[in-house]
Amino acid sequence: MQRARFVAALTGAGVSAESGLATFRDAQTGLWARFDPREIATPSAFARNPKLVWDWYAWRRERVGTVQPNAGHRALAELEARVPEFLLVTQNVDGLHQRAGSHSVVELHGNITRVKCSREGSIVERCVKCGAFLRPDVVWFEELLPADALSAAEDAARHCDLLLVAGTSAEVYPAAGLPMLAQERGATVVEINPNATALSSRADYVLRGPSGKILPALLDSVSDPRRES
Ligand code: APR
Repeated sequence: MQRARFVAALTGAGVSAESGLATFRDAQTGLWARFDPREIATPSAFARNPKLVWDWYAWRRERVGTVQPNAGHRALAELEARVPEFLLVTQNVDGLHQRAGSHSVVELHGNITRVKCSREGSIVERCVKCGAFLRPDVVWFEELLPADALSAAEDAARHCDLLLVAGTSAEVYPAAGLPMLAQERGATVVEINPNATALSSRADYVLRGPSGKILPALLDSVSDPRRES
């Protein structure tokens, strides 16, 4: 951490777990337990039953509004200020990294608080132009990721010295391919997760535990250049 010139981070739903948001692959709790995100977060589900999909996202957006960023989000926001170059690549759509103070963030899977026209993709409050249903500005299964976000993330993976991978099962591509891309280009890959994942056996270091505890501890190992030494 002290030596790294360019630090990147790749986060998933686990980083928001300690804020009280359920991850995707832990048991879905409450009203939506019977729906599988892979069945409902898809363009075909939206075409078939837009109200169901819209209600699911309205419920998730309402949940996001009631929770706060946790120590892991805040540690990543502080780390950004302490290292020469930093980029946070997130799969999360909850906007908690930005609320914690992170500025240099790439949202690979969109952001649940934004809505866009389901036909032409423009992000608007209401689609007054074509009258089509609005839909969450979130990448659904079967859909391509926003090209600019993905190329920024791949560029960071190619050029960073250190990639912190926190709170992701590393199962969903292309996000899950970023750690290997970074490692191939000489970066040190560190996994931060209480459980083993598809990445664990290939990461250079595995810090087994919650990101809300481990990320602040990692931050402590980086002196703050803004403070006189
Ligand atoms: N700290 C760190 N990691 C945690 C914590 C925690 N406190 N609690 C759980 N985890 C880990 C779990 O062990 C798991 O590996 O977070 C990971 C969550 O994995 P998923 O639920 O698969 O979430 P994610 O990897 O973000 O999913 C990727 O899949 O459903 C799609 O588009 C959706 O962005 C999502 C993508």
